[in-house]
Amino acid sequence: MTNINYGFANKVVLITGGTSGIGLATAQEFVAHGANVIVTGVTATRLEEARTLLGQAALVLQADLRKPDSLDAVMAEISKRFGRLDVVFANAGAGTASPLDQVTEAQIDEQFDLNFKGTFFTVQKAAPLLSKGSSVILTTSFLNTVGTPGLSVLSATKAAIRSLARSLGAELAPRGIRVNAVSPGPISTPFHGKLGLSDEQLKEVAAGIEASVPLGRFGEASEVAKAVLFLASDQASFITGDELVVDGGLSQF
Ligand SMILES: NC(=O)c1ccc[n+]([C@@H]2O[C@H](COP(=O)([O-])OP(=O)(O)OC[C@H]3O[C@@H](n4cnc5c(N)ncnc54)[C@H](OP(=O)(O)O)[C@@H]3O)[C@@H](O)[C@H]2O)c1
Repeated sequence: MTNINYGFANKVVLITGGTSGIGLATAQEFVAHGANVIVTGVTATRLEEARTLLGQAALVLQADLRKPDSLDAVMAEISKRFGRLDVVFANAGAGTASPLDQVTEAQIDEQFDLNFKGTFFTVQKAAPLLSKGSSVILTTSFLNTVGTPGLSVLSATKAAIRSLARSLGAELAPRGIRVNAVSPGPISTPFHGKLGLSDEQLKEVAAGIEASVPLGRFGEASEVAKAVLFLASDQASFITGDELVVDGGLSQF
């Protein structure tokens, strides 16, 4: 846990995709800082694991973000228990690797439904619970600035998220609500295992990534979590519409 006192005690924090990887690491940080945390996920086993790991300070809810209506029950529960939200980390996402000639319409719909629509409707439906001083963080990716063969659709969803941080930041600024994006580089989480690549392809991709990241390694989920906490805190009180890149220099040099 970071030792900085961000003043998150008793704050109410919603994290989508909070049952695994970056979202789970971020939930652990917020819990350690005394926040009331609500995490969402879809897979029953991971929801259970998150419940065990996060303990009483966290409310773990199932919501498939490809169906925006599933967020209504989440917001109703938050409204009933807490009456407000201080931080929203719209983080749930997944990707499918597929070269140009093999991309299907279904793959495009699936990735935009979860990554773009899921993020958009999370913010739209959370907005009534936010107030002056609240902070929204969206998860984009280093893929929003680089071209990667086989990842055209995933990368486009993440470029759309980068754009959303600006547009929604502009819309919510008059209410004193900040909206920023965190942009992870390659991070060690289960994400890569879900891209639909074989073990051999995954090993090859991982070796290529390690060779191209200036800091020479994958990042840890906890390293992204620390950036999210900063953006969520008053330490970032004059930062909105921006993107904090956590990628070991991959997209910078
Ligand atoms: N890992 C990286 O290298 C990397 C790099 C750049 C950006 N990112 C982004 O970081 C975010 C988190 O990824 P991660 O690396 O932490 O991956 P992860 O460990 O696979 O976690 C993904 C999270 O999203 C949830 N999720 C998946 N499908 C969902 C759906 N239909 N509805 C609601 N939630 C769903 C998962 O829930 P279940 O576990 O219940 O399925 C899980 O909690 C994603 O937006 C990803 O694009 C990751």
